[in-house]
Amino acid sequence: MQKVTKAVIPAAGLGTRMLPISHAVPKEMLPIVDLPAIACLVEEAAKSGITDILVVTGRDKDAIEDFFDYSPEYEAALNAKGKTDVVSSLRRYADLANVTFLRQKEAKGLGHAVGRARAFVGDEPFVVLYGDDVIFSHTPVAKQLIDAYEKYGRPVVGAKRVSPEWLQKYSSLKVSPIEGDPAAFFCDDMIEKPKPGEEFSDLSVLGRVLLTPDVFDVIDALPPGAGGEIQLTDAMAKIARSGGVTALEFEGERFDLGSKVGFLKANVVAGVSHPETGEEFRAFLKQFVSEMDR
Ligand code: UTP
Repeated sequence: MQKVTKAVIPAAGLGTRMLPISHAVPKEMLPIVDLPAIACLVEEAAKSGITDILVVTGRDKDAIEDFFDYSPEYEAALNAKGKTDVVSSLRRYADLANVTFLRQKEAKGLGHAVGRARAFVGDEPFVVLYGDDVIFSHTPVAKQLIDAYEKYGRPVVGAKRVSPEWLQKYSSLKVSPIEGDPAAFFCDDMIEKPKPGEEFSDLSVLGRVLLTPDVFDVIDALPPGAGGEIQLTDAMAKIARSGGVTALEFEGERFDLGSKVGFLKANVVAGVSHPETGEEFRAFLKQFVSEMDR
């Protein structure tokens, strides 16, 4: 079986739920304490054995590219002040993987964004990390998907159980259990943004999928789906119906940085355990919560 070494991060969406900030700052660059969300994704991919990453960007997203570049003048100024450790940490992020960039040109949907990666992917399996989904986990989620791919030999969708209200905003998977593996399911259909009554189960695709290159022909033939966009779920549904995919209920807590409340929650969770902020922030939160309902 071919080793999985490539990943695609779609980051070209308009980010309308995060306006007004997303008008000037790509939502994928919003911080988790002091790190842009997309750097957490690149780190997750690198820790999973991924060496090559394509970030699909759009207009006004240059800040993403700048973050993964060297900044010789800035570094020289930091070095002159003796801040060599800061320079090494900036370089560490720039060198995590071979990160390249491609523009989607028009935000026609997540499926369309992934479709731009055909030449980069070639004939290899690849992981897709949704650019605004940060997941805190013990084992990197991309690695969990790669392990499931190597075990079952089929594309893998990362899944979580969600409430009926959220199923209608995400997707719903038709699954049957796999004996001896309580976290893995055989999935032979799925639906994007199901209307009430159309749901298959409470499992929804969230944040990470592992696909094979046959997805590109499927994407190219897709008509616009929910919201008038080319939906990745519609492409994966076709693949699920024709040969099945594995749905993996991954370990980890997922935060949608594309939503205001997701952004706040992620920063609270990261803030209480961050080495520089943890102690003071925990004390502040305890005090704040104890006074909140008075
Ligand atoms: P979302 O649906 O969360 O992004 O897509 P969005 O369209 O920016 O969201 P709104 O406007 O707040 O509703 C998940 C990921 O896919 C990327 C986004 O940047 C995000 O990281 N995406 C989405 C693209 O790259 N291209 C698109 O056309 C749509």
